[in-house]
This record gives sequence, C-alpha cells and structure tokens, in this order.
Amino acid sequence: MKKKILVSRLYPKEGIRLLEKENFHLTLWEEKRPMTQVELIEKAKSHHALLCTLTEKIDSHFLTQCSHLEIISQFAVGYDNIDIDAATGFGIPVGFTPDAMSEATADIAFGLMIAVARKMFFLHKTIINGRWGYFNPTGNLGFELKDKTLGIFGLGRIGVKMAKRCKNAYDMDIIYHNRTRNKEAEKLLDATYLGFDDLLLKSDVLSVHCALTPETKEIFNRSAFKKMKPSAIFINTARGPIHNEKDLSSAISSGEIWGTGLDVTNPEPMQPDNALLFMENACVLPHVGSGTQEARNQMSVLAAMNIIEFYRNKQVPHIVNPEVLAH
Ligand code: GLV
Repeated sequence: MKKKILVSRLYPKEGIRLLEKENFHLTLWEEKRPMTQVELIEKAKSHHALLCTLTEKIDSHFLTQCSHLEIISQFAVGYDNIDIDAATGFGIPVGFTPDAMSEATADIAFGLMIAVARKMFFLHKTIINGRWGYFNPTGNLGFELKDKTLGIFGLGRIGVKMAKRCKNAYDMDIIYHNRTRNKEAEKLLDATYLGFDDLLLKSDVLSVHCALTPETKEIFNRSAFKKMKPSAIFINTARGPIHNEKDLSSAISSGEIWGTGLDVTNPEPMQPDNALLFMENACVLPHVGSGTQEARNQMSVLAAMNIIEFYRNKQVPHIVNPEVLAH
C-alpha cells in the first residue's frame, strides 16, 4: 500500500520531488495560511505521516487524536511546537532539520547587531517620513563594535557561526553560557564559559541561540535586563518566548539596556503598534532567520529524507527522540 504523507505547507520543491520519486501518495496543503488544528487533525487522520513546521501545534491533543501517525517530520531546527514527550509516548519518531539554516540565521543575528548599533531601521523610517533634513555632525550617532564583548546564550551550531562572524569582523571577545560546556567551541573561538549572571554583566552584545524549553522560557526578563550594561544590545533570533517582551521594551525605554535586534517576537506575529517598532534602537524582523533559498531548500531535503529513510530502513537521519526507534 502506498504510504500517505500529509504536507502541511508549501515547502520548497527540492524536498517534495524526493518524496514524489519515492512513490508516496502526497496530500499538499496549498493555501498560504496554515491549517487550523481542527483541519490538521481531520486530514492527518487519513495519513500515515506528517511533514509539518512551527506553525502547526502538535500538542498532546493533536497526538492523542492522531496517535496512528508513523512519523512526524518537522521542517525546522526548533520543535517547541511539538510535545516530544507525548510523541515519544505514542512511539512516533519526530525528525527535524538541524544545521541547514545555521549560516542564514547567523547572518540575521550579525546583521541585526550592526543594524541596532547604527539605528538603521529607525533612520530608514526617517527618510520615508520626510525627515532626512541635513547632515548632522552630532546627530544619529551609534557606536562601533570593534573589540567589544559578545555574549552567546546557547553556543551550539548557530551560536558558533555568529561568534565566528563577530570575531573575524570586529575581533570581539567571546563569552558564553550553556547547559553544558562546549570545549570544542572554546578552543575554536577562544571563548570563555561564564555563569548566566556574569554573561549578563559582561556582554556588550548578548545574542540568544538556545532552544525554547521550560528552563529558557522568559529567562530574559526584568531581572536579567537589569543586570546588563546600559550600553548593551540584546539579540534574539532563536524563539520569542525566551524573552519577556514587555520587560524588554521597558528596559530599553528606561535606558537599562541600549537596544535590541529581534527576528523572533513574543508573541508572533508582533502587532503593528508594538512600541519596539518605533524605538530608535530596536530593529525587528518577522522570523526570517532561515529565509535563504539555500537554507530552505536544504531544510526541505532533510525533512523529506527523514521520511524516506524511515520507510526504507526504519531510520530517521535527524531525529529528536531516537529512543523510539531503539526498541
Ligand atoms: C526556525 O525558526 C527553525 O527552527 O528552523
């Protein structure tokens, strides 16, 4: 019997072609909007496998209704939209697409850092609003990043790439905090491991690259921002709920930190009247870290291969819960 795969969004063709070649029966959801959970459950009920992404809520309700699924393949490196314990409980392997977007996301973190230091988004808006005026010798001043200290919260695949960019471009000192020390990266980047509070105290730029977990949820809150330097830039390209957005806004307006660059917001989408969008020292993007052709194509290939290898060899090359396949 042909396996039926539900494909939740319009993913790049590279991966879809691989699935087609494998002779699966594919159901493609071709609308721009994601399915509601009700629609998703109804469709998933008649399929063997699901290719999904962060717009789909794969919680215990979904999984209880769709416990027959043989594999869930997530098109993303983050999988906080999926209740992994519940999937594991039902014996469903969950695949994901690590590293495909590391360069692309590090570029966005690096770009946001420079954009904030030089108030780029705000200054762009002054032109649109007819307020260019005259060259101003003492106005619109930002600061330089040369020799500053970069703090990385979550020195993994993407964090290392951000740190390399900062070291090569600006000779920045690299400090970091992780659950477990990354000795290899320490050697590569001459990076220093610090406790969380010391990371807050010492970073000129603090860039977040960790996963969203119960431990990291809103770890960047009022008390964290209070410990940071008044000249510090906070960058988040990981997941919005890692910061408390009201606390972040107040920290900038009260001068507790200098500014922020966000590719992820809490919640998403950010509303168009959000105060951060009007601040001089804030630059916000609509969650586009992995948004290059190279990254998205590779993500679609990895997500497809997770399904293909599962049905060919009972193996999932990039799997979140390997224990499911161990028995
Ligand atoms: C994007 O946010 C991803 O997790 O890949």
